[in-house]
This record gives sequence, C-alpha cells and structure tokens, in this order.
Amino acid sequence: MCGIVGYIGNNDSKSILLHGLEKLEYRGYDSAGIAVLNDEGVNLTKVKGRIVNLKERVDESIQATMGIGHTRWATHGVPSITNAHPHQSSSGKFTIVHNGVIENYQDLKKEYLSDVSFVSETDTEVVVQLIEKLYNQYQDTVKAFREAMGLLKGSYAIGMIDADDSETLYVSKNKSPLLIGLGEDFNVIASDAMATLNETDQYLEIIDKEIVLVSRNDVQIQKLNGSIVERKPYTAKIDASDIEKGTYPHYMLKEIDEQPIVIRNIIKEYQDENNQLKLDESIRQAMDKADRVYIIAAGTSYHAGLVGKEFIEKLAKIPTEVHVASEFSYNMPLLSEKPLFIFISQSGETADSRSVLVKIKEMGHPALTITNVPGSTLSREADYTLHLHAGPEIAVASTKAYTAQIAVLSILASDTAKAKGLELEFDLMQELAIVSSAMEVLTDQKEEIEQLTRDFLSTTRNAFFIGRSGDYNVSLEGALKLKEISYIQAEGFAGGELKHGTIALIEEGTPVIALATHENVNYSIRGNVQEVVARGANALIISMKGLEQDTDSFVLPKVHELLTPLVSVIPLQLLAYYAALHRDCDVDKPRNLAKSVTVE
Ligand code: F6R
Repeated sequence: MCGIVGYIGNNDSKSILLHGLEKLEYRGYDSAGIAVLNDEGVNLTKVKGRIVNLKERVDESIQATMGIGHTRWATHGVPSITNAHPHQSSSGKFTIVHNGVIENYQDLKKEYLSDVSFVSETDTEVVVQLIEKLYNQYQDTVKAFREAMGLLKGSYAIGMIDADDSETLYVSKNKSPLLIGLGEDFNVIASDAMATLNETDQYLEIIDKEIVLVSRNDVQIQKLNGSIVERKPYTAKIDASDIEKGTYPHYMLKEIDEQPIVIRNIIKEYQDENNQLKLDESIRQAMDKADRVYIIAAGTSYHAGLVGKEFIEKLAKIPTEVHVASEFSYNMPLLSEKPLFIFISQSGETADSRSVLVKIKEMGHPALTITNVPGSTLSREADYTLHLHAGPEIAVASTKAYTAQIAVLSILASDTAKAKGLELEFDLMQELAIVSSAMEVLTDQKEEIEQLTRDFLSTTRNAFFIGRSGDYNVSLEGALKLKEISYIQAEGFAGGELKHGTIALIEEGTPVIALATHENVNYSIRGNVQEVVARGANALIISMKGLEQDTDSFVLPKVHELLTPLVSVIPLQLLAYYAALHRDCDVDKPRNLAKSVTVE
C-alpha cells in the first residue's frame, strides 16, 4: 500500500526511481509520481494510473542525481494527479512523499496553517506546508523537519527534498515501513528492499520517530531530540531473480506453481540432520507456557489462522482463538492468565495487526510473528519469529504464503505436542512431503480447472463456496480469492448454515462450489449440496480420493485429513485465476487492493 523510493548519488536518478516504483507496483496503487532536483530546481511529474503512464510523461532530457518517487493508494482524496505525490509547499522549497495516515492533519491545519491555501485533499500536503511554516520561523530545514515530525500523530514514512540543498534527502518514519539502502557514492530509500535490490543489498533499519539525513556518502540517524544513533547495516537476503515473472504471464500463476517447492523448503528449514523438527527452543518454551493462544491476522492470513487453530488444539491441546486484527483492539476478549499471541502476516507490515501487537506488548504479553519477511515490523517487534521461506510474494492475491503459513503452523503445533510428550499418530514431515507431491499433481491440472471455470463461472455475478469442518475454513479462502481478483461476488459458508438464510439467494444456475475432503462430514456436505441443487444451483463438488462419488467434478489426491487445506485450496486459487483472466481483470493488481496494508 503506497510505495516510496528515493535516490541520492552521482547517476541520473530518474531510471532508478522508475525502476524502484515498478518493483513496488505489487503493493497496490492508483497514481504515481517522481520529483528530481538539479541546478534548475525541482522537476515534478505525476500521473493517475500506472507506472507505464508515468514513464511516458517523464522528461527524458532532464538529468538529476537526486530524487524521490511514490506510488499512492488513495486514502484522503480521490485518485487524481492533484492528489498524487510528491506534494510541494507553497513556495516550492519543500517536496515530499508520504505513506501512511496523519490522524491529526485537520488539527494541524487549524492550528498552524489557517492562512495557507491547499491544492490537494491530502493529509500529506498538510505535512509539507507545516514544514515550510516551521522553516519560515527557524530558517533551518533540519530543525523544521524534526519539529514537524514531532507534531504528527498517526503513521508515516516520509522522504523530503529541500530545493536549496542538493546534498540531503530528509527521511523519517512512524509505524509505516521505510529502509535506507547503502551504496558506494550513493544511498537510496525504499519502502521495501525489493525496490532497490538492483542498487544494493545493504540496508539500515529506521526505528519509529527517528530522523535520517541521507547524503551521497553518509547516513546520519537522529532521535527526535537530535541525539545521534549508530546502527549497523544488514544484508537483505532476497534473490533478485525471485521477483521476476520469468515466462509466466502473471505472478499469481507463478506463485501458485511454486507451492510444492515452498512446502519442500519449509520441510528442509524446519528439520535437523536427524529428521527431527527443528524449532527455536525459546519458541518451544513460549508455546509450552501458554494456557491459551490468540491468533491475530487479516484476510487470507486470518483464514490460515483458522486452519492453524485446528492444529494447535488437536495436536498441541492448547485452546486457541483466532481474531481479525482490525476488530481485536477495539473489542478485546477477556484474556487468559498466560496468553501467547501469534501474529500471522505475509508482509509483516499489516497496520491492523501491528496496532494489536503494540497494545499487547504494553500489557506485557509474549508475541510470536509468522511472516514471509523476517526484517518486517511485526517480526522485529515481536519476541519470536517463524519464517515462511516462501520467497517474495508479488501478486496481490496471496497464494503460496497461505499454504506456507498453514505448513509452518502445522510444524509449530506438532513441535509443541512433541515437547509436551503428546503422541502423534503420524509423521508430519512425511505427510508434508506427500502434500508437496499432491500439490504438483494439482498444478499440472490447469487445463481441467480452466474448463471447470468456463463451465461454472463464465457468466455468473455471484458464487458460493461451502464446506464443513476444515473444508469450511478453505471455502472462506476460496471465496476471498475469487472475489478479490475476478470481482464476482463470492461468499464462503459452513455447509449447514446456508439453509438458515442465505439459501434464499440460490437461483437457477447459481454456482455452488462444495469441498468434500473430510470423511466425518462427507455425507452431510453432500446433503447440503442436494439442498441447493434442488433450488437450481449449479454444483461443483471437489472431493478427495477415497471419498469421491460419480457426481464430483474434481478429485484431489489423498493427503492426511488434517492437511487437506493445503491441497483443496489449489483448485480454488486456479478457479479464481482463470475467472479473473476470462474477465480481462488485472490478475496481479486487482482494483482497490494493496499488497501491504499499512494503514488501519
Ligand atoms: C488476500 C490477501 C489479503 C492479506 C491481508 C493480510 O489475497 O492477500 O487478504 O492476506 O491483507 O496481509 P498480511 O498477510 O501481509 O498481513
């Protein structure tokens, strides 16, 4: 959600900024812009729409060795050129890009800026005008910048240019992600290391409310009170080739296909040389101490959490609750005496989850983050981290992160069970290896799934996904995948619940996708299918080898019953993919969505 790139060095900054913004496209945006500074002053280019449009607009003849760029996901004000970043102060001296939401922008406007006329509807313009106002008072940019940052409430990552100073990029952050990338005779700033991996793999973390002065050869980190902070860089361990599409038409398809290998990676990473589960002892102890686990997550990660609850309760015998992050802080349940919080987040940056993390840390509770990005905010701020090892996920619709989250949760639950001396009736790693092979069979069945998409979803405006028990959790994910990328209205339901109201929506031809992978509910879910078919529904039954019947449209290879979500989700991901493709939707960048949701 929104992306920032900045460069200061000896090369022309335009291409570095544009390349960086392209790499941040996956985060979701609706307008974009860059500002570069040279002897002639600041040159600003902004567009509504995609980076390709921005590239066409940028004046190639301008050479400038310093600049900032931004992709905007609208929060305050519609997507438009006027509201796109960078924003400038009235005199043009200051130009900024900003991610996040300034909660007190109306108060700041009233208190400090009643005489200023604004051109955009954004909270960001308030920030840049405030800096100018303070500069006019102090005639000192660092002082003005620092004081302005101290007045902001909310979330922000900010990069700023002072038109009279071609030696410094001014940077600060609070809650929103921002990194400094270090190079030889240049430095960069980026919301995500992926944007600037072409330039460097050395990065410096910025802690909330720090001020950073970035020049070609130096980076100075200060606290808000002006004291200097020393910090060592770290190496970003991302393989640049992981973030290329290769021959795939879309990242989503590539990421669906990567799932078998991701499961194998997870097996490798979480197993020692004696084929025993390998987990940090501190995590083992935290799980052992907990009298209740609270899983906090959003969207697809929340759906993975629902599956994880089953593992933790059934295998490790710890009562577990799963909560939607955005609701938890405002409606906190009564907590147990020794809670352990598990945050599940692909990006590790989701603001809703982070606000829960901040709250529960203030209350003194331990937290474990399960994430695909180990250096992310949720990872840094929790006590423990489990890494998904899924490789960068670029498509907005999460696929391989969901299955990786489930696999890691199964390992965590099994490890806890073993540590508690509980007997497991199966060898988890062996079962995960079977899952990985089953996934491979499924990703090879794209033609069949594409045909099913044509048969069931080609013209529909809505669809229902039903399942019971573990299949219900996957039906929620199947519905989310379909609606977010194909815009078909889709809902996931517990098979038995439909008849309590929603069955009223079933009409002649309404697609109902039913999962039947659990023996104990095989007959009852098929009964629910009969109920909707009797009312005209077009039922697509996805069952599992051993439970299949003649009416089934697709049969999954057999895997251990607890692990069925890892395989049953794959045809649902592919149905969503083909439905979006057939409707000419932008598969990797669905409208209104962002990959990294950094505002609450
Ligand atoms: C849907 C999707 C979202 C994310 C959600 C949480 O495909 O990707 O629902 O799962 O925004 O994001 P993370 O996992 O990064 O916290």
